[in-house]
Amino acid sequence: MALIFIPRRAAAISFSLFLISALVASDPVLSPEKLGIRRREKLSHLHFYFHDIVSGRNPTAVFVVPPPSNASRTLFGSVVMTDDPLTERPEIGSKLLGRAQGFYAGASQTEIGFLMVMNFAFVEGKYNGSYLSILGRNTVFSAVREMPVVGGGGLFRFARGYAQAKTHAVNISSGDAVVEYNVYVFHY
Ligand SMILES: *[C@@H]1O[C@H](CO)[C@@H](O)[C@H](O)[C@H]1NC(C)=O
Ligand SMILES: *[C@@H]1O[C@H](CO)[C@@H](O)[C@H](O)[C@H]1NC(C)=O
Ligand SMILES: *[C@@H]1O[C@H](CO)[C@@H](O)[C@H](O)[C@H]1NC(C)=O
Repeated sequence: MALIFIPRRAAAISFSLFLISALVASDPVLSPEKLGIRRREKLSHLHFYFHDIVSGRNPTAVFVVPPPSNASRTLFGSVVMTDDPLTERPEIGSKLLGRAQGFYAGASQTEIGFLMVMNFAFVEGKYNGSYLSILGRNTVFSAVREMPVVGGGGLFRFARGYAQAKTHAVNISSGDAVVEYNVYVFHY
């Protein structure tokens, strides 16, 4: 009995292993259409203003790691967490389009050069609930800074592209800044 039983069991195991591997292997009938993906990508241009508010009672950008004292000229070694409003116009009271949620960190010892790691989470119109993920380099005294869009969610699944940031205004005494963003992104 045992001699018969063991091979049967082995056969059952190898059959279920076959099933599992068939499920794990790429699904031959999966098509882009099944994921709601159209044949052609489209290119979108998004334009908004980013408000980095470091002063006052309700800052939207806060140091979570202050600069180590002697590196503070370039803010090297510091980390700032943000929940910065993104608005339609340069005025903070203009229509809210989304928020820049993430952090920037001092990554240069020779100039103010930030590593930017953030999601632009949109709250308006068809992009409400969708977001773009940015990972790039921001040397804030350069006229135009370019940062890659490395992905996104919602309508921005499979997104790739780049963002260009241009300082619109800086309040020297408070440190608050308004930055104009133009984002060019391929998505479906
Ligand atoms: C900071 O710089 C000052 C002046 O250059 C120096 O005397 C001090 O040792 C430095 N401190 C650290 C922690 O490096
Ligand atoms: C965006 O989506 C949220 C959640 O679905 C909803 O509560 C909100 O009213 C929407 N905003 C706009 C401007 O459509
Ligand atoms: C700049 O910041 C200072 C200090 O917070 C504030 O008093 C002043 O009104 C600001 N200037 C502008 C143009 O917003």
